[in-house]
Amino acid sequence: MTPPPVATREIAREERFNSVWTEELNDVFAHVAPYYDRANCVASLGLLRWFVGRFIATVDVRPGERVLDVCAGTNAIGIALLEREPALEVHAIDRSAAMQEVGRRNARAKGLRIRSLSGDVHTLPFPDRHFDAVTLQFASRHLRIRRVFAEIRRVLKPGGRFYHCDMLRPANPVVERLYYGYLRLCLGFTALLFRSGPPALNCREYFIDALQMFYSTEELSDVLEDLGYRDVTAQTVFAGMLGFHRAVKPAG
Ligand SMILES: C[S@@+](CC[C@H](N)C(=O)[O-])C[C@H]1O[C@@H](n2cnc3c(N)ncnc32)[C@H](O)[C@@H]1O
Repeated sequence: MTPPPVATREIAREERFNSVWTEELNDVFAHVAPYYDRANCVASLGLLRWFVGRFIATVDVRPGERVLDVCAGTNAIGIALLEREPALEVHAIDRSAAMQEVGRRNARAKGLRIRSLSGDVHTLPFPDRHFDAVTLQFASRHLRIRRVFAEIRRVLKPGGRFYHCDMLRPANPVVERLYYGYLRLCLGFTALLFRSGPPALNCREYFIDALQMFYSTEELSDVLEDLGYRDVTAQTVFAGMLGFHRAVKPAG
């Protein structure tokens, strides 16, 4: 499937997925929460820690800085950041109470403090110019990203950095087709292994469709620049299947 042009992509994504985003996805994460970390580990063939490590290596934080992890889920990013730099003030926001509960337990088990808030990230409940850095991993396909990225820009201090990591749409069509085949297989396997409930089973095709309608590395860089971010840089691994973006809110 060829996705619509970038200029109309957000409208097309919203028209196609609005009901899943607003009505179904939270049930999926409520069911998946207890085995989310293990399922990701299986689906990534054990490479999850390496993926997170690669992303964290792109994140530049200094002692005393205030950081927000958006769509924090089970707190993988907040924990990895605090393990690297304990003198950070880390905030997390997510809509799923179940994912946050697992996240709280994960942080507590390591003796780390993450300030968690529940809420829809399309409207961030924080003042303007509040954070030195914001991170967002593995969630953008479920979001109206222009709105969320604009909100992130609002809550960043001038000169603040936004770090983004997600599975992206590979530019090469052959890689893209193989990738979707692998993901389909993986979703089937993890559903069996972890005995997924109806909400997750019903959304299996959505996870592929959402990726097909998503952005490539270059397109995502264009979206960030269009929203007023500067110094946008991107790194990819696995032929563009996974991308790490860094973008800066201008100082002026
Ligand atoms: C695939 S998980 C990623 C979690 C975590 N960032 C990670 O890397 O493991 C996606 C998360 O996004 C959250 N989410 C999806 N849509 C959201 C929204 N509109 N507002 C807040 N959280 C949302 C879900 O609850 C879920 O915890």
